[in-house]
Amino acid sequence: MLDLRLTACAELVRPGTKVCDVGTDHAYLPCYLVKNGITSQVIAADVNERPLASARKHITEQGLGSSIRTVLSDGLAQISEQEADDIVIAGMGGELICRIVLGCPWLRSAEKHLILQPMTQIPYLRETLCAQGYEILQEKPVFEKGHYYTVLLCRWCGRPNPADELFALIGKIPESNCPDRDGYLLYQAKRLEKIAAGYRRSASVKDMAEQYQRLAEQIRRFLPNG
Ligand SMILES: C[S@@+](CC[C@H](N)C(=O)[O-])C[C@H]1O[C@@H](n2cnc3c(N)ncnc32)[C@H](O)[C@@H]1O
Repeated sequence: MLDLRLTACAELVRPGTKVCDVGTDHAYLPCYLVKNGITSQVIAADVNERPLASARKHITEQGLGSSIRTVLSDGLAQISEQEADDIVIAGMGGELICRIVLGCPWLRSAEKHLILQPMTQIPYLRETLCAQGYEILQEKPVFEKGHYYTVLLCRWCGRPNPADELFALIGKIPESNCPDRDGYLLYQAKRLEKIAAGYRRSASVKDMAEQYQRLAEQIRRFLPNG
């Protein structure tokens, strides 16, 4: 069974599209997509030989070799525009995801969907993509094994759209109807309140305390009793 984090990625894949899973590791996501009839054309790509070998092993064990092709590739460098419509990049840092997206010129097309699941630097990812002409269409927050994750569905719109501080922190999560929406927002508000409390103890950075407290209050307003 696929974990909730990768299931959320799979739910954003458009049925019947050609998919490329960048940084596939064991190819769990490609196997799930094919076994569940979501698509029959998947590229499982990875920059390292070892994960690619375990991807091949898993694909063969599942008998899915005719639908999933493995490719050794740094980001999308070895993948052509014709080979993928929906691109999944999951389980990596936000900065690396940005580098992979911005390094691929053919992603600058509204036809391509990017399904991104960053582990770190999420505000940086939202800010950078919006500044570079990508829009975030939707986000799916997920809670699993004590951690909150978010999956972003993005595409090229060609208009740089600066993200303000609040959007960088929570993106499209307030618009989500996922069960973990409120938990994610509450977790973020509490995190910012903790940072604000830390700054409050130091006389020289009172402004920072106010800034974080204000952002936490803005997030709490999206909650049912906010
Ligand atoms: C932590 S695993 C994530 C696996 C899976 N996508 C998931 O979310 O569970 C990260 C994988 O990304 C691969 N990777 C790291 N940098 C990459 C790059 N520049 N291009 C392609 N794959 C990369 C690593 O080799 C590793 O297999």
